[in-house]
Amino acid sequence: MSPTMTATQVMKAGEFASACAVRVLARGGLVAFPTETVYGLGADGCSGTAVARLYEAKGRPMFNPLIAHVGDSIAAQALAHFNADAQRLADAFWPGALTLVLPKRVDCPVAEFATAGLNTIALRVPSHPVAREMIAAFGGPVAAPSANRSGHVSPTTAQHVLDDLGGRIDLIIDGGATPMGLESTIIACVGEPVLLRLGAVPREAIEAIARIKDAAVAPNDGDDCAPLAPGQLASHYAPRARLRLKAQALHAGEALLAFGSDLPPGAQKAAWMLNLSPRGDLIEAAANLFSHLRTLDASGVETIAVMPVPDAGVGEAINDRLNRAAAPR
Ligand code: TXA
Ligand code: MG
Repeated sequence: MSPTMTATQVMKAGEFASACAVRVLARGGLVAFPTETVYGLGADGCSGTAVARLYEAKGRPMFNPLIAHVGDSIAAQALAHFNADAQRLADAFWPGALTLVLPKRVDCPVAEFATAGLNTIALRVPSHPVAREMIAAFGGPVAAPSANRSGHVSPTTAQHVLDDLGGRIDLIIDGGATPMGLESTIIACVGEPVLLRLGAVPREAIEAIARIKDAAVAPNDGDDCAPLAPGQLASHYAPRARLRLKAQALHAGEALLAFGSDLPPGAQKAAWMLNLSPRGDLIEAAANLFSHLRTLDASGVETIAVMPVPDAGVGEAINDRLNRAAAPR
């Protein structure tokens, strides 16, 4: 089924845009909005039809559940059960770039569609003022995946959202480039905390608060199997171009995604070159990653050579996204 085409409005963030967003959400429409991580595509989380429309607009498989965005911990506690670790993590990182997957309360009003029929729910309290204003004004949980077509790189500007979803959604609130540029870190706290997705909050920061297991090394034998984020498919962040990782030299015809000031041999001949962070700052690199990937991909080159990025701090999540973008499909 192809989604109904609608005119997509783009509005500068502000009180008027928030009020429009609330009206659109209340009638079951779709609103893209900035968060501190990436742009989200919001729908009324309690409306099955709004959420169904959201899956359709993204072309997202229905088995892949959504994050419910709420205004504060109290609103989150009305939807899910928090164990002691979950509470500590929420206290430490909310509002912010952490998503918790928790046992859903039986009276949780979020649409079954949004949680893909699971007995858990993913929750996040974003810190971005535009997201906070919209969620507070709406007054209920906003279901929101990243505002890209399923399988594409996440959007970090309103223009990226328009490029991917123009004509398929009602409204885009333009709040400028998102400050962090990587999606939230996801931790399941059903029993012991399990890291489901590396993201904008680095592993070290989480480990200072709670002991976490990696989903990949968690037991995986039938009933005992650790919950996995169904959206973490190997080739999820898929540019059209091939990515050649850890490049030590640039080959003829390749574009270069650089990091730091020490450029590899051949770099001066690159037809296309963008630097994630000329001064070698990983936080700056994270903020630029998806935008630079989109730009280099749009150049039409066959291969993007990517310089090595250190695995420290948020570098681990950058490398996770690069590995997915480079995975064979
Ligand atoms: O930073 C972010 O997290 C952004 C902004 C908009 O908040 N959102 C985002 O959503 O990245 P999305 O849908 O692109 O990624 C959410 C991930 C998916 O991989 C999904 O499978 C997983 O969260 N997820 C959602 N609910 C889950 C659940 N109950 N159990 C396990 N994984 C879940
Ligand atoms: Mg996504």
